[in-house]
Amino acid sequence: MHLGVNIDHVATLRQARYATMLDMHNVEPSPLQAAQAALRGGADSITLHVREDRRHMQDADAFAVRREVPLPLNLEMGATPEMLEFALRLKPDYICLVPERRQEITTEGGLDVASRVDELRPMVQALAANGSRVSLFIDPETAQIEAAAAIGAPMVELHTGRFANTLGAEREAETQRLIVAAECGHALGIEVHAGHGIQIANLAELNRVPHLTELNIGHTLISRAVFVGLEAAVREMKEAIAAFKW
Ligand code: PXP
Repeated sequence: MHLGVNIDHVATLRQARYATMLDMHNVEPSPLQAAQAALRGGADSITLHVREDRRHMQDADAFAVRREVPLPLNLEMGATPEMLEFALRLKPDYICLVPERRQEITTEGGLDVASRVDELRPMVQALAANGSRVSLFIDPETAQIEAAAAIGAPMVELHTGRFANTLGAEREAETQRLIVAAECGHALGIEVHAGHGIQIANLAELNRVPHLTELNIGHTLISRAVFVGLEAAVREMKEAIAAFKW
């Protein structure tokens, strides 16, 4: 099981103080140092989200991680012409297309691929031709996975936010949706990843979902890092994931 470490919150913290002072000598914390700590802790890839409004990660952060961290880089980005142009210059190993605007989002919060097949297909093709494998961040719905297959996306990331944020019967229903979606993706030859709200505490239940090959995890790692450091937090997560057969 691959662990992608999402370091966005490091940029969020930096911007909270230094958004208008990024050229100063004392700016902290550094997303590049976070990526290096994640590498030491055993991360398999680094995930960062460059938003259209650049409110957290800046272009320079992405280029620094790309240049200096010997791990695959997974760029999360909105499916827009401007971000496409950025991704073609950055050339990350992986790209995960995510919704940023209200109208791009399906009911639960994933990218609405099913209603945008014709628009997304050329973007996925252009990114693939540029050397980036593309994933689509979608709700665990068969229609979205079939649309991802129709576009030719080799990977999807199933949105686990609802799974993470519910309990009892709702959690069980969401787990079942994830299982069905993962089976559908696997049957269509698509690599199935999961992300959002994953914590050590919900790994055992997530482990019921078959065919997962990568988990993208951010918030809990950065939260834990406040107390033990990011390297240790990533190592703990790797060990917790390795306790299960995926
Ligand atoms: N995957 C995607 C597509 C995301 O946008 C995020 C961040 O919200 C994550 C994974 C990581 O989620 P979390 O920070 O809740 O672990």
